[in-house]
Amino acid sequence: MKPLRVALDGPAGAGKSTVAKQAAKALGLTYVDTGAMYRAITWKALQEKINPTDEAALTELSNRVQISFKLTPAGQDVFLDGVDITEAIRTPEVTGNVSAVSAVAGVREAMVKLQQDIAAQTGVLMDGRDIGTVVLPDADVKIWLTASVEERAQRRYNELVAKGQTLDFEQLKADIERRDRFDSGREHSPMKMAEDAVVLDTTGLSIQQVIEKILEICSSAD
Ligand code: C5P
Repeated sequence: MKPLRVALDGPAGAGKSTVAKQAAKALGLTYVDTGAMYRAITWKALQEKINPTDEAALTELSNRVQISFKLTPAGQDVFLDGVDITEAIRTPEVTGNVSAVSAVAGVREAMVKLQQDIAAQTGVLMDGRDIGTVVLPDADVKIWLTASVEERAQRRYNELVAKGQTLDFEQLKADIERRDRFDSGREHSPMKMAEDAVVLDTTGLSIQQVIEKILEICSSAD
């Protein structure tokens, strides 16, 4: 039987990565966090002092570096050219610049190719913004995971506070709204729900309930 390819898309803070990791495990699929790839390029660009609007330099960077993942009991570690950047890509500085970097066509081309290469080798549950529309348009299952802005902001807030970061809730909510606007308004593969995607609104649902719903949707695709 052909391995399953699941596309999980949706806006910032919808809880995709938390549920995606666990659902992938239950389904025996490789979890691919495509947001982490765009964050990795953004992190490296900041390190090299490349301006997030310098399309040529960002494209060159995307084609030069090697991004890889390593499964861990807690989830997944992210490496760029062998350096562990798992924590480094979650800083507010990276989050604040990632939408601009990921809007660059050359960056997207390199990342989409990497994502398609992974999916050609193994069954995947891939989370992102354009998986069902651009990366895997013929995925076996397409899910659009969303939640109210208020709830998404609250979840991200709790997550970051638990990690010891100090932040302002209203500011964080405004950042999420700004990122949604930017991601859906960009010219190259904007964040968009695939026409054949199943909408899963997670407002008010627990992580476990969301995972169960994903497994249910996937089982009807066999
Ligand atoms: O999923 P996460 O919030 O980590 O994604 C970070 C950013 O990467 C998004 O706000 C978006 O700008 C970009 N992204 C994208 N396409 C994807 C995944 C993420 O443009 N497939």
